Amino acid sequence: MYKITTIPGDGIGNEVMKPTVEILETLDAQFDFIEKKAGKACYDECGTNLPDDTIESARNSDSILFGAVTSIPQQKSAIVTLRRMLDLYVNQRPIKSYTNSNIDFTIIRENSEGLYSHMETLDGDVATATRKITHNGCERIINYAFDYAKKVDRNKVTAVHKANVLPTTDGIFKDTFYNIAADYKNIESNDFYIDATAMYLIMQPEDFDVIVTTNLFGDILSDEAAGLVGTLGLLPSANIGKNNGLFEPVHGSAPDIAGQNKANPIAMILSAALMLEFLDLKEDAKNIQNAVEQTIVESKIKTPDMGGSNTTQQMADAILHKL
Ligand code: NAI
Ligand code: MG
Repeated sequence: MYKITTIPGDGIGNEVMKPTVEILETLDAQFDFIEKKAGKACYDECGTNLPDDTIESARNSDSILFGAVTSIPQQKSAIVTLRRMLDLYVNQRPIKSYTNSNIDFTIIRENSEGLYSHMETLDGDVATATRKITHNGCERIINYAFDYAKKVDRNKVTAVHKANVLPTTDGIFKDTFYNIAADYKNIESNDFYIDATAMYLIMQPEDFDVIVTTNLFGDILSDEAAGLVGTLGLLPSANIGKNNGLFEPVHGSAPDIAGQNKANPIAMILSAALMLEFLDLKEDAKNIQNAVEQTIVESKIKTPDMGGSNTTQQMADAILHKL
């Protein structure tokens, strides 16, 4: 029995979590789902966007499934706090298009430091944000990226940074990258500046296998990658630490379509598949990924973000049917 904390959050988070849990319940593996609150509706109700018992349950679970939360001005982000409290230092985002075989790479984003350290000050006219980069932080994310490339038979790891204008912080990142790359003789390594990468992703996405980068650059590149794939509604992600994993779609709470039964549940369903891989339920993970791929390629069911007019539930049902 796997203990799974589900945190639907708010907005479309609730709408995509429900069919995802329904799909997981059809598998042979046994899950004990414990639903916990976070996000804006939770804040309005209990005065905090991340209650202690949500954190406690997340800590004591085999994995966490997270929907999405709307940010609240002046409140620390619930998801960023959760990643930090559980020390989920890896944010892994597989970017795969089912209609363009040139687009198939993985972004490994450092998840615990960089500009997401919640360190901002205002002194008179001067506002300052601290970008914290540590040697240890670089080492563990870059090691993870090379180990991952080796495990899934990827040939190349690309470091993305801005060491020309950030020679100290990104200097550490780049130097650590090439030190570690020397230990992986069979994997090609190279590096680009973040701005050039933004262009290369559009012009030559087939050149990328595994990208490893710092927190904010990884965040931006993954939404750009969503543009390549066509919609945020297809992209899953894994947040991984030493003890725990939290799995969530790349997208947010999408207030523009919330409550309309229009949200694409695929990003959430594929996030659940990443969770199954993490729990070593590899066959179940593969079956769900195949069912999603077949639904995208073979069926006429498409949610509005994919250019169709089907509902969240119709898409989930089509995937369940293939499964
Ligand atoms: P968003 O990802 O919620 O939406 C961006 C665009 O993509 C919107 O047009 C939306 O309709 C569309 N979209 C996103 N997911 C979709 C899906 N599953 N199916 C169909 N269309 C989809 O980003 P946005 O609008 O910048 O942020 C909305 C709120 O979400 C903000 O409060 C933001 O802070 C929060 N957010 C939360 C995240 C999280 O919980 N991990 C991540 C990103 C944003
Ligand atoms: Mg983002």
